[in-house]
Amino acid sequence: MYRQQIVEQLKPFVALDETQLYGLIEIPKEEAHGDLAFPCFQLAKQFRKAPNLIAAELAEKISGELLPVFEKAVAVGGYLNFFLKRETVVRDILSAIARAGDRFGDSNRGQGLKVAIDMSSVNIAKPFAIHHLRSTMIGNAIANIYKSQGYHVMKINHLGDWGTSFGKLIVAYRYWGDEYDLSDDAVRQLLALYVRFNKEAEQRPELEDEARAAFKALEDGDEEAVRLWKRFIEISLAEFEKTYRLLNVEFDYYLGESFYNDKMGAVEDELREKGLLQISEGAEIVDLSAYDMPPCLIRKSDGATLYATRDLAAALYRRREMGADLLVYVVGAEQKLHFRQVFKVLELMGNQWAADRCVHVPFGTMFVDGQRLSSRKGQVVFLEDVLRKAVEVAAGIIEEKNPDLPNKEEVAETVGVGAIIFNDLKNNRVNDVNFVWDEALNFDGETGPYVQYTYARLSSLLRKGGYEPQPVELTDVSAIDGDLEWSLVKLLGRFPNVMERATEQFDPSVVAKYVIDVCQIFNRYYNTTRILDGEPDQIVQKLALVSTTRTVIGKCLSLLGLRALETI
Ligand code: ARG
Repeated sequence: MYRQQIVEQLKPFVALDETQLYGLIEIPKEEAHGDLAFPCFQLAKQFRKAPNLIAAELAEKISGELLPVFEKAVAVGGYLNFFLKRETVVRDILSAIARAGDRFGDSNRGQGLKVAIDMSSVNIAKPFAIHHLRSTMIGNAIANIYKSQGYHVMKINHLGDWGTSFGKLIVAYRYWGDEYDLSDDAVRQLLALYVRFNKEAEQRPELEDEARAAFKALEDGDEEAVRLWKRFIEISLAEFEKTYRLLNVEFDYYLGESFYNDKMGAVEDELREKGLLQISEGAEIVDLSAYDMPPCLIRKSDGATLYATRDLAAALYRRREMGADLLVYVVGAEQKLHFRQVFKVLELMGNQWAADRCVHVPFGTMFVDGQRLSSRKGQVVFLEDVLRKAVEVAAGIIEEKNPDLPNKEEVAETVGVGAIIFNDLKNNRVNDVNFVWDEALNFDGETGPYVQYTYARLSSLLRKGGYEPQPVELTDVSAIDGDLEWSLVKLLGRFPNVMERATEQFDPSVVAKYVIDVCQIFNRYYNTTRILDGEPDQIVQKLALVSTTRTVIGKCLSLLGLRALETI
């Protein structure tokens, strides 16, 4: 906020265009040095002077016609530091937030643009893994962030519902299906069938041939194979839905890999026509050696298509049929090469958009108590169990803290699940995440429960103070002009920039870190100020600050996919 005013102020004296000027403005590390700073180092050439002299000269030049939001502009070293007029700014920011309500920070930057977000993309008959949780939550938050910036968002669950493993599963089911009860805990049962197949196939390799034949039958539309396959999908999805409900995530489209079965032929033809397809040891490939990448496999020598083939078809579908302007893939960092290959092949096909409008949004591995959750080797930790445990732990804490709470169960679910989501989102997306129970559920740490708790505290203050959101603008702000309030107000005012950054970087952690900062400053204020004491007029001012803080925290929670609670 107020960067634009600095641009206006300096424009007449500096030969840089507005965007350049805007981009240079910084926030001083020391608050005492000013509220915004303009570094003059880049101007040394133009002025043929040392930066500190330029700063002094600019300070002098603008001093006579300082815009009303500025108290003063002071040269310090190579910087021109601006001090905002507290009273004006506090009034401006609080009323801007009050007016915008939960649309504060929104913009129409993305108007007319469609974004397809590939997220969650769990695999049928396999456990909902922890990396799928990350993809689901990061994808969901990015979707919320993009929606708030005016983009038309399409959330797509690219289900792993195709591939040779389904041949194995069909064979396993035919042999041993009646020993497994698929009506209960279906995914666990399907996984057990799959593990059993692999074990038995070690002794009886001919099972592998049977599996290949079964998959071929499935591809050819064999009735029994298709029926089994559909059943596996149905019962797996029914379970995944439970997790999605708990996480409060919905999709606009479920378009699994199998959806592209009848669309891959056309992709192959196009590749062939454009001279990109080569035969290598019986397989069809696109050579990418010129780009320092291994070839992209399109069809194996046995005729089977691959994961990459389906991704090519899916990208073209999203672009051509769904009209997506931006294709976002929220998928673990281990698939980096895969996406570089797919995007490059699309580009070689003549799709310029693939070069700059396809984005792989990678993320690191999540550990629980320092351990990797892996579905290989039967060492399976089901996400649902983790979520359930989080809810239990939260319930225990609430029982201790506030045993009389009326809706304890709902609160425990919201806080427990929120702890996992927030822990996931607060770290830079690409970093690995370690989920430690005590830390993630600590109401005083940098956690989801801490933010939710702060939100509830703000709500309770407003209730106790009988605060009615003021349609009129505050005239007097003298009861909230201390240093702490000033830091808080400025931070609240910065929210639109935070949203801009989160959007550009596809990174919800920008919002998560920001909301922690807001909570921390607010709690410092809360601990040092008797908000509900004083003259009625002073209380109203303080509650106006509380109310706008609550609006911003609530907005961040909902962007991140956490629920806000009025009481905890
Ligand atoms: N199902 C895949 C997996 O679990 C993720 C799919 C990601 N999306 C994509 N379009 N390839 O690894």
